[in-house]
Amino acid sequence: MKNARMVVEKNFKLSEVDPKLFSSFIEHIGRAVYTGIYEPGHKTADEQGFRQDVIDLVKDLNVTLVRYPGGNFLSGYNWVDGIGPKEDRPVRLDLAWHTIEPNEIGIDEFVDWAKKANTAVMGAVNMGTGTPRSAGELLEYCNFPGGTYWSDLRIKNGHKEPHNIKTWCIGNEMDGPWQICHLDAVDYGKKALETAKIMKWIDNSIELVVCGSSHSLMPTYPEWDRIVLEHTYEAVDYLSLHRYYENFDNNKEFLASFLDMDNFIRSVCATADYVKALKRSKKTMYLSFDEWNIWYQKKQKEHPWQQAPEILEDQYSLLDAITFGGLAITLLNNSDRVKIACLAQLVNTIAPIFTEKGGRIIKQSIYYPFRDISKFGRGTVLKPIVIAPAIETSYGDATMLPTSVVYNEEAGELNVFCVNISEEEDLLLNMDLRSFGDLEMVEHIILNGDDLHAVNTFDQPDIVKPSNLPVKDGKVDSLEMVIPKVSWNVIRFKTK
Ligand code: AHR
Repeated sequence: MKNARMVVEKNFKLSEVDPKLFSSFIEHIGRAVYTGIYEPGHKTADEQGFRQDVIDLVKDLNVTLVRYPGGNFLSGYNWVDGIGPKEDRPVRLDLAWHTIEPNEIGIDEFVDWAKKANTAVMGAVNMGTGTPRSAGELLEYCNFPGGTYWSDLRIKNGHKEPHNIKTWCIGNEMDGPWQICHLDAVDYGKKALETAKIMKWIDNSIELVVCGSSHSLMPTYPEWDRIVLEHTYEAVDYLSLHRYYENFDNNKEFLASFLDMDNFIRSVCATADYVKALKRSKKTMYLSFDEWNIWYQKKQKEHPWQQAPEILEDQYSLLDAITFGGLAITLLNNSDRVKIACLAQLVNTIAPIFTEKGGRIIKQSIYYPFRDISKFGRGTVLKPIVIAPAIETSYGDATMLPTSVVYNEEAGELNVFCVNISEEEDLLLNMDLRSFGDLEMVEHIILNGDDLHAVNTFDQPDIVKPSNLPVKDGKVDSLEMVIPKVSWNVIRFKTK
């Protein structure tokens, strides 16, 4: 067993966590919407056709915002197809995912669903086939109180009160040649600026996210980000990042994915800060990590044109969940710059929640670390000193114990999240928490197991699930505990 030491000082603060860090994403893709959140005729469906079993789990995940409606789908989507009487809505081809889109769900229904699921919508405007004008019209439809063509149409369609969607993405992954009507950085920068102007003229209380690079391996990264920000810096509030990780049969590298994510965030911040200096701006650009997850991007099987095909339905293992935990820790540890993060996605498509058409629902392994950070990661991220062995990886030397500590002074809670990424060694961790005075240890949640490839299935839904380790009784101001190899841990204390 190796040793690690952690000193947590309550006055060493990194940042308040923005609740938007615990957001997610529903795209019109595969079975995310149709037979995911929406399945009229399902035994739990409500009067609008929304599955109550899905709503219950989304509520349990405590999701702040849900980005909608895409994703790649966004770049070919005409939002007007999704409003008004359902029987009048057109059935369209979705070219992004080779799918038939029935348009039974549109912005009005999605806002209703979000309310039922105790969450809110992060909107997105089409920058592929869409125009600055159509973006403005969508915003007017959603947020303008009434008395204009678009706002009155919303009222006529049954929503008297404005939707008040406060956060909007200006397009999706516009740097990607796979995007419908992909643009180069200069063209996108100009279009995004004009769109931002129109949108903020309509409602200056909104916040806007401009497209950064689709991932750090893009040949245009980070020039794309620099050029886009040079065009839009003062008009937008966040720059987006997307990144998915997968295991290329190398557990050591996979478990160290958090380090690559951290490097990516730092280099995007550096790029944004370069533009800040160039523009002599006083404003700091925040980041919206609005797609992150594990995703096995194997080539999708060809499928005929159809509604709601079973695409991107990854089954997540215990190892995936533990690696995912490292990514979640990295987001918390960058909460001074990353203010929005969307787990991509939420239901069926690369998702923590998985439904059976007409039937059951299960929690995938990644459900648990997401729920933990969303539930216990609200407060102030501290800057602990962690001394732990390092593991050499292609991303650099990765600490064996990625850790994040969140202090919620108001609730009197101190929560330590950590992952032991070693496959070989348990860690004996010595924690020094003296600055808090006497603490009460309330819980040690752990997700680990002998079979790293175990997955939950409809027949065996609880193969991968967290358990609780014994806690130390009485008041503590320091303690020693074993952090088992390949494990996700949440160690919780009451401070009063
Ligand atoms: O989340 C799946 C896809 O990944 C999204 O549609 C796209 O934005 C990204 O490439």
